[in-house]
Amino acid sequence: MNPFSLKVLTDSDQFCNRTREIATLASYAKSNSNVVLFSPRRYGKTSLVHQVQKRLKKNGFITIYVDLFGLSSADTIANRLTKGVYTALYNQKNLLQKAISIIKTHRPVIRPDETGVSITTEPISSGLSGAELLDKTLGDLGHFMAAGKKKINIVLDEFQEITEIRDPDIEGIMRSYIQKHRAGYFFVGSRRRVLLDMFNQRRRPFFQSAINYKLDKLPHDELVVFLMERFGAGHKRCAEKQARKIAEAVDNHPYYSQKLSFFCYEIADRSVKVTDVQQGFEALVQAETPVFEAIVQGLAARQIALLRAIAREPHKAITSMNFVKRHHLKSIGGIQAAVKKLARLDLIEKEGKNHPWQLVDPILAQWLNR
Ligand SMILES: Nc1ncnc2c1ncn2[C@@H]1O[C@H](COP(=O)(O)OP(=O)(O)OP(=O)(O)O)[C@@H](O)[C@H]1O
Ligand SMILES: [Mg+2]
Repeated sequence: MNPFSLKVLTDSDQFCNRTREIATLASYAKSNSNVVLFSPRRYGKTSLVHQVQKRLKKNGFITIYVDLFGLSSADTIANRLTKGVYTALYNQKNLLQKAISIIKTHRPVIRPDETGVSITTEPISSGLSGAELLDKTLGDLGHFMAAGKKKINIVLDEFQEITEIRDPDIEGIMRSYIQKHRAGYFFVGSRRRVLLDMFNQRRRPFFQSAINYKLDKLPHDELVVFLMERFGAGHKRCAEKQARKIAEAVDNHPYYSQKLSFFCYEIADRSVKVTDVQQGFEALVQAETPVFEAIVQGLAARQIALLRAIAREPHKAITSMNFVKRHHLKSIGGIQAAVKKLARLDLIEKEGKNHPWQLVDPILAQWLNR
């Protein structure tokens, strides 16, 4: 069976390294600190917090995981939060009973399914809606926390999604309860600008309320060893030289290194050859093409022109005359607006003052250059 996985990793065998990150995040959780965990898409944030919560659970924590992706309203936040709480407590009947008696806004709905049980929640009719319901839910959750002794860690994945709700009070409501809750919160997200602005802009409720923690790509040497081991686990051989080629081709990107390896594994006979890596890379680019096409289709012509220019030539001074001329870009004002938009979409980044603007996604960059 192909030993490479493209899903959120729950099994530690499929998980490369991150020992330092796991230790640091676990230690923040132990001190009830709030953390903003951010990185570009598919660096392994969700997989990492699963590993951290696994460790915390072994240490006696209650670990609650809430995915806020695709929110539509404040009610949904309240629903997802209580779902996370009831799911975390399902195997601890006393605590579950206690939660049900304290959280008066939602009751759990437990149904058997293929994997065991699925837990959802339904609001207990109260006449409250939207922000009021969220307010009451967070209040009740606080009472539940205060009534117990176990340490609590709560992950709010895709946290930036709360800004999609067009209610200016949501951030304030969440912040006012979260700061009082007896728990450590991890705010996780991949729309970096949107997420970081929430925590680093002075006027925003969450301003400076959490430790910023940036997740990097995987360290090259460890990734190489990991890939060789995984091929071995699938009974195929991958020499160090080819493993390095795989890691280099995707710039040590966690998701792409698994995906390229997945294709190489499919293509290779008993051991991975140079040509397998080349063919695997073609398969990877083909597989990503619809995703990249959709990204480009969502952009204006000026933004596409700038994205292509930066893909071709990462550069510090993209508004300089030379750069503008070389890439046939139009007005400087237009470039500035396009930079803002592309950065907000997390398509381009500049890591520091003396770093060049570059594409966040190494494969998108190569695709645009074809
Ligand atoms: N430590 C790791 N070792 C090996 N592969 C990893 C690791 N972390 C992530 N991956 C790979 O990256 C993929 C994406 O991981 P995950 O979904 O956890 O990332 P994410 O940052 O939460 O992504 P998103 O931004 O889409 O939410 C995994 O399916 C796996 O293939
Ligand atoms: Mg994720």
